[in-house]
Amino acid sequence: MDPPPAPIRWRTTAISILVVVLILATVSPSTAIYCDEDDCYDLLGVTQSANSSEIKKAYYKLSLKHHPDKNPDPESRKIFVKIATAYEILKDEATREKYDYAIAHPEEVFYNTAQYYRAYYGHKTDARAVLVGLLLILSGFQYLNQTTRLWPW
Ligand SMILES: *[C@@H]1O[C@H](CO)[C@@H](O)[C@H](O)[C@H]1NC(C)=O
Ligand SMILES: *[C@@H]1O[C@H](CO)[C@@H](O)[C@H](O)[C@H]1NC(C)=O
Repeated sequence: MDPPPAPIRWRTTAISILVVVLILATVSPSTAIYCDEDDCYDLLGVTQSANSSEIKKAYYKLSLKHHPDKNPDPESRKIFVKIATAYEILKDEATREKYDYAIAHPEEVFYNTAQYYRAYYGHKTDARAVLVGLLLILSGFQYLNQTTRLWPW
């Protein structure tokens, strides 16, 4: 049997990638993209109403305690990375607002995910870069298809 024409294979590839992305976006709760499964405020030991100087103080205290130079315990290193991430999110008013919004509206997964990526990468990447990236991934798939023949399409 002849292989399907190229446009059909391309479309199948594109659809498969889209499905994977949609599944990933659906299964992960919207706040998970911020501090993984943890609460960013809990990580720093502050409440959601803490002001910026309290957050800063809590972060400095914890980061001193868990700094890899001071504390060789590998668990501590993990915690250090986590509190650094939490602080990155909470120190910036705009990102913190979006995080608070995500906590209050966990059902708006797609909106929150988009807001997160806008807050974090919006100023660095634009739609064109995303498109180029997507095309590169698609070309990669086509290349693999050419070299391995593992793919059913
Ligand atoms: C934050 O709260 C603390 C304790 O309630 C207070 O002493 C401090 O002045 C506040 N800082 C700001 C910037 O509002
Ligand atoms: C892709 O895979 C199919 C099926 O294994 C194969 O017939 C085709 O030549 C491959 N190459 C390209 C460029 O799609």
